[in-house]
Amino acid sequence: MPVIGVALAGRAYEVRVGGGLLADLPAQCGKLLRKRRVPIITDENVAESWRGVVQQSLESAGFEPQWLVHAPGEGAKSWSGLERTLDWLLGQEVERGDHILALGGGVIGDLTGFAAAILKRGCGFIQLPTSLLAQVDSSVGGKTAINAAAGKNLVGAFHQPALVLADLDTLATLPARELRCGYAEVIKYGILGDRTFFDWCEAEGAKVVGGDRTAQQYAVTKSVEAKARIVAEDERETTGKRALLNLGHTFGHALEAETGFSDKLLHGEGVALGMVLAARYSARRGYIGVDDAARITAAIDAAGLPSEIAALGLAADGRALAAHMLHDKKMDAGTLPFILLRGIGEAFLDKEVSLGDVAAFLDEELQAH
Ligand code: NAD
Ligand code: GLY
Repeated sequence: MPVIGVALAGRAYEVRVGGGLLADLPAQCGKLLRKRRVPIITDENVAESWRGVVQQSLESAGFEPQWLVHAPGEGAKSWSGLERTLDWLLGQEVERGDHILALGGGVIGDLTGFAAAILKRGCGFIQLPTSLLAQVDSSVGGKTAINAAAGKNLVGAFHQPALVLADLDTLATLPARELRCGYAEVIKYGILGDRTFFDWCEAEGAKVVGGDRTAQQYAVTKSVEAKARIVAEDERETTGKRALLNLGHTFGHALEAETGFSDKLLHGEGVALGMVLAARYSARRGYIGVDDAARITAAIDAAGLPSEIAALGLAADGRALAAHMLHDKKMDAGTLPFILLRGIGEAFLDKEVSLGDVAAFLDEELQAH
């Protein structure tokens, strides 16, 4: 079984990738579970498919699982979702040395991680990611947050988990559209920093979204390795290295905002379109060739992800889309750094981008193709 270390001094932990991990929870968690009662936070969709497996594996070793089940969706990552979680954990008498289990996608992982960060000034937690996005991205690296009225993920903390168990079995019950959304984050690692992995995604990506276990294991392992490397280098996003993980997110966020953060465009679909736009904008600026931008577009399209913004039928023009970018978390003293490409596998931070030029580019994109 692939085991990837996240090398952070004093907070190092393992990410294990394989099948049957939830069915083997007591052995996997070992001494991290130090009391009979084990607090587990999940959502209704995940509970429907995986609560039974977790319940049985813990009970078989003499544990008494305690469940808090949220409604699915971003709504749980809210002040009220956080309050409910903290009150419940206090009722469970969780102590600082205990570990809370987060069983679910990025929503449950981010919410549970943030609750763990502030409960009694910080207690332990274990990530049990069940969506592809959570396995390759959100469960690793310690970013935790809830949403605020002013925007997504604006209230949070860096708080690393003690262990991550990415059980590939869970991907079998994930809706196909969610699987494709997670794949956008997989191919992102190739586009931003590993041309060889991009080549692999080009050839094998359809297998990942098609449910092939071997391809999924390889994709999750390579993605986690890439993320672990970046997090170990720049845990708190201060050197610019970790910021590269936001490739496609500035363009994508503008599209998500314009579509009202709705089912019309899910986050991973926004990231997919955002990466196409970042690649084409990089070509417009002369950083990469149009042929490389076309390869990226084709690989995203081949995975069943959206690759043309004209197809969204937006009422907005380029200026209106660019205006959404002014609320980006990366805004720094009035300038917005863009993550662009010098080649496939060579992302960099460009602090000299004019939003007017981006708006003109988006106007062309809204009409062309
Ligand atoms: P999610 O947690 O909402 O899961 C997507 C949907 O799939 C939900 O309906 C969920 O109930 C369902 N689901 C999850 N696993 C399932 C399974 N195995 N079987 C059946 N249904 C399942 O969303 P997500 O895409 O996993 O994560 C998105 C969240 O992650 C966002 O809030 C985003 O801000 C956050 N995020 C955080 C980081 C980070 O570094 N912390 C990185 C990327 C994204
Ligand atoms: N998902 C971006 C990060 O973890 O930094």
